[in-house]
Amino acid sequence: LNAVAKQHRKLYFGTATNNEEFTNDTAYLNVIKDSRMFGQLTAANSMKWENTEPSPGQFTFADADQFVRFAQRNGQILRGHNCVWHQQLPDWVLDGTFTESEILAAVERHCGTLLEYSINDALNASEDSWDVVNEVINDDGTFRQDVFFNTSGTKYIAAAFRAARAADPHAKLYANDFNIEGPGPKVTAYHNLIKTLKKEGVPIDGIGIQAHLIVGQLPSNITENLESFTKLGVEVALTELDIRMTLPSTPQLLAQQKKDYETVISACNAVKGCVGVTVWDFTDKYSWVPGTFTGEGDACPWDDNLQKKPAFFGIIDGFNA
Ligand code: G3I
Repeated sequence: LNAVAKQHRKLYFGTATNNEEFTNDTAYLNVIKDSRMFGQLTAANSMKWENTEPSPGQFTFADADQFVRFAQRNGQILRGHNCVWHQQLPDWVLDGTFTESEILAAVERHCGTLLEYSINDALNASEDSWDVVNEVINDDGTFRQDVFFNTSGTKYIAAAFRAARAADPHAKLYANDFNIEGPGPKVTAYHNLIKTLKKEGVPIDGIGIQAHLIVGQLPSNITENLESFTKLGVEVALTELDIRMTLPSTPQLLAQQKKDYETVISACNAVKGCVGVTVWDFTDKYSWVPGTFTGEGDACPWDDNLQKKPAFFGIIDGFNA
């Protein structure tokens, strides 16, 4: 799929993964290690705050190292995921009491250290991207009231981007979120955030559009929506694509899913500032969906037995569109 993605417009195609998957599962390993299939990898968990800074100032990169070395061996570029997110935080952040300057210092140290780590260790550092802030806006367009916002307002967002840029001048720095595939209050809030950050000289390079979607329920104007971001001077990427269905799957649902994958991929393909697509794991075997949405699943382009589904061919059609 990466080879097809590269053919027309030099896009990349990648997947999220967990270390246990490529270390323990040979059949999985044989698919993911091929850079003609996946030119880019995102760590689904191993770079998150609870895993990289479990106590204040104590950084542990064992899992991240294993992930980065794996991608290096395969010649795959990386997406860092993520610096600041309200989930998978260590208790000292989640339950801590901070002054504004303390939380900003914690954010700066965390983002700075992660970006410094990745610039030193990643193979194609100049092509790498980072989700510097993740899911900072609610569906209604208000800012998420997490420990960072409640202590610093929106100052932590600028602080995270500035620390990331200072540590790594080359990585593309992103804000990443779900439910921004079509227009609405959340997209408008992101437009406003981009404008504000740019006006203040804060280094934001891109918007990551997660694209956790539902079969048969795609927004009708994904292409225009992507363009609405690129018009503001940022690039976009589809960072966590999967398209779930109500189980059990049927031939009709699988056919619709194929169409939906094609629609999403061809939207990225059509927009000049869209740089690539990442699926949030490529096989239903390891998808996060069934654990979160009871009765839903089969969201990925490969099935539980690592067989290609119609969706796989929808992706090819999308890149060739
Ligand atoms: O590491 C522990 C393990 O020690 C324990 O035995 C096991 C028992 O449940 O849990 C393991 O931790 C799990 C972790 O994934 C690693 O597998 C957590 O319970 C589980 O909650 C966690 O889920 C992750 C989720 O983020 C957390 O919200 C998913 O794997 C990961 O795919 C998902 O990814 C997010 C993106 O970061 C942001 N966008 C949405 C996306 C899907 O939720």
